Amino acid sequence: MKEKIEQLRKKVEEFKSETPQHLEEFRIRILGKKGELTEMFDEFKNVASEEKREIGKLLNEVKILVQQKLKSQKELFDNVETGKNIADKTLPANADNPGSRHPVNLAKNEILEIFTRLGFTVADGPEIEDDWHVFSALNFPPNHPARDMQDTFFIEQNPDILLRTHTSSIQVRTMERQKPPIRVVCPGRVFRNEAISARAHCIFHQVEGLYIDKNVSFADMKQTLLYFAREMFGENTEIRLRPSFFPFTEPSAEMDVSCKICGGKGCNICKYTGWLEVLGCGIVDPNVLEACGIDSKEYTGYAFGMGVERLAMLKWQVKDLRLYFENDVRFLEQFQSVI
Ligand code: PHE
Repeated sequence: MKEKIEQLRKKVEEFKSETPQHLEEFRIRILGKKGELTEMFDEFKNVASEEKREIGKLLNEVKILVQQKLKSQKELFDNVETGKNIADKTLPANADNPGSRHPVNLAKNEILEIFTRLGFTVADGPEIEDDWHVFSALNFPPNHPARDMQDTFFIEQNPDILLRTHTSSIQVRTMERQKPPIRVVCPGRVFRNEAISARAHCIFHQVEGLYIDKNVSFADMKQTLLYFAREMFGENTEIRLRPSFFPFTEPSAEMDVSCKICGGKGCNICKYTGWLEVLGCGIVDPNVLEACGIDSKEYTGYAFGMGVERLAMLKWQVKDLRLYFENDVRFLEQFQSVI
């Protein structure tokens, strides 16, 4: 008897039904009036009383096993009917998880959105440029260190063809093409021959801006950049402009925003200064306007430029620039977005 029960247990464990009918036949074969298990329960009367305890237990275990098997196999068929069976690879894919935008894209879109709200349009230009659009038209003297092999990637040893080191080249192309008033923002990838570290990369993204019209002043620039800083980093943000130098602007400045992490008190993010450097800016040098065919006696303008990775680092407190390029899902999925 014990052996018969053991054989039946094996049979039940190995059973897999192919169709609902097959499953029903299995049920009848085991639990039906003349089923194998039913017959064993009938035979149980004849078991010697010393063995009753042990055999009764075995029979009950097999009965439970049969019931579980019937239930789980039946669920499989039910799920196929309602489309829930995950094992069926032919079912339509689940569209619940569409991914998220890259943080650099989120920051870039936000910057562009703020400036387009102020009437700026978005301009584009090539990543492979010539010396004129990246340097010469922007008033870089012929021997300026930025043209050096150290910073610039040149194409095939031809010093006239290079990867742009900033998107100011798009501003030059815009001025050559378009008469003032000009209001553009220029997003894009830029390339600099720098060692990769937590704070620098040889490829990064910029958004630069250019505003040219009659009587444009430094105060206009300051007000626009203050508006931008508050939209980007929060309404209580303060800005400060420090004198700086760029060949294409005069006067030039670097803009800091008050550190929103410590509220200006000083922390390790702002290196205990209360300020974070976010962009370069200045009044467009008359030489640049003239090089691009704009009368510098009639028109003035301002320009600014910022690194998108850097702004995104400040906004979301990302500590290492390399995270942006590694495509680690654990990093990327923290930036959920609907836009
Ligand atoms: N082109 C500068 C850079 O790459 C940024 C800048 C743009 C500064 C416009 C002033 C005016 O760093």
